[in-house]
Amino acid sequence: MALGEVPEMNGEDCKAAIEVATTAFKTWKKTTAKSRSDLLEKWYQLIIQNKEPLAQILTAENGKNLVEARGEIDYGASFIKWFAEEARRSYGDVIPAPAPDKRLLVIQQPVGVVGVVTPWNFPNAMITRKLGAALAAGCTTVLKPAPETPFSALALCELANQAGIPAGVINIVTTSKYTKEVGKELATSEKVHKLTFTGSTAVGKLLMEQGASTIKRISLELGGNAPFLVFDDADLDAAVDGAIACKFRNTGQTCVCSNRMLIQSGIYEEFSRRLIEKVKKFKVGHGFEDGVTQGPLITEAAVAKVKRHVDDAVSKGATLAHGGRHMGGNFYEPTVLLDMNTSMVISSEETFGPVAALYKFESEEEAIELANDTPFGLAGYFYSRDMGRIWRVAEAMEVGMVGVNSGSVGFESAPFGGIKQSGLGREGSKYGLEEYLEKKLICMTI
Ligand SMILES: *[C@@H]1O[C@H](CO)[C@@H](O)[C@H](O)[C@H]1NC(C)=O
Repeated sequence: MALGEVPEMNGEDCKAAIEVATTAFKTWKKTTAKSRSDLLEKWYQLIIQNKEPLAQILTAENGKNLVEARGEIDYGASFIKWFAEEARRSYGDVIPAPAPDKRLLVIQQPVGVVGVVTPWNFPNAMITRKLGAALAAGCTTVLKPAPETPFSALALCELANQAGIPAGVINIVTTSKYTKEVGKELATSEKVHKLTFTGSTAVGKLLMEQGASTIKRISLELGGNAPFLVFDDADLDAAVDGAIACKFRNTGQTCVCSNRMLIQSGIYEEFSRRLIEKVKKFKVGHGFEDGVTQGPLITEAAVAKVKRHVDDAVSKGATLAHGGRHMGGNFYEPTVLLDMNTSMVISSEETFGPVAALYKFESEEEAIELANDTPFGLAGYFYSRDMGRIWRVAEAMEVGMVGVNSGSVGFESAPFGGIKQSGLGREGSKYGLEEYLEKKLICMTI
């Protein structure tokens, strides 16, 4: 069903938007941190007041159930609130004089026009996490929302208008999914000084390559292949609940969701039994229906990928313990696979669907080796009650975020981001603002 239409814009339209953002930057950068903070606070209030319609737009275009959609609006709004507060804390430094007649100061200034490219899986929060920080720093922006979910972006920006954020500070370029020149324009334009992207590692590499032509500052939140470890000494109920929340939120379409569940042999049977019991209780359906826990996948291509991953695992000896069925449309049955091993595609590729894949391990060393056996390093999780092990494993995991006895790691006050091929930079938190600021040295002779 078509929800509506948006303009199909191209590289020329993007150039025009960059011009507008460039002009707006001349005045926006001179506003005080206090006034930007006040505007962000107003925007936050309007988002909260309009939570229900925003959640409905989100469910309609993304498919996630309405409870999760409302949760995303709150989560998304929290970044605007956070950066309204952080706007006033972009302090500089005074450095002890290196010579009697010298004085050194460091001030922080906005990087300039920012290109913002966002994904469809969190069509609200991935935008606010970037725009909140960019606007707080004093940058203007050109946003290309995912072609699958433009309406959440447009609704957010209508509220930004109502909040009094000046015209030209946020510019949106909507595209069809076949349009490549808008991303390229943002990555290569000399007038765009920073690019921030959340999406696949493949596209991230391309944008980084294109951005090299102008030495663009780049932030990337890319794919993951999150390990979720459960040790014999874990609180099993908590581990199962954490695994469900971590794996099946947004029907498994999150970059931090567990792609590989590594379970120690002593509790493997019991953990999988309890996990399957819970997965059997899921209700798949339309996001607006009461009680639905699992919505559709975003596209036919997403369904095809999940099928390919499950078929590959089964053909190589994995046991299909539950699910494994395409239910028509873009609906795929929540699935549990047992007896996984590293020969299977799920070990190296992100599934981005409702598939829990369980591997068995014997020792802590083996678990860490398996967990780190991937080019990705976004999030990792483990469950244990042994204090020594908690420190050892948390330090050994090659990821940007570790959940210890916790299936979630995302908060507006916490740094979100990855290492290895999962990206560059951090979003949210006190560190998130730095991504949009340049340090300038002022060296004086007195
Ligand atoms: C994976 O499991 C299959 C089936 O048991 C087995 O044939 C294969 O050798 C295993 N591969 C690895 C890398 O463990």
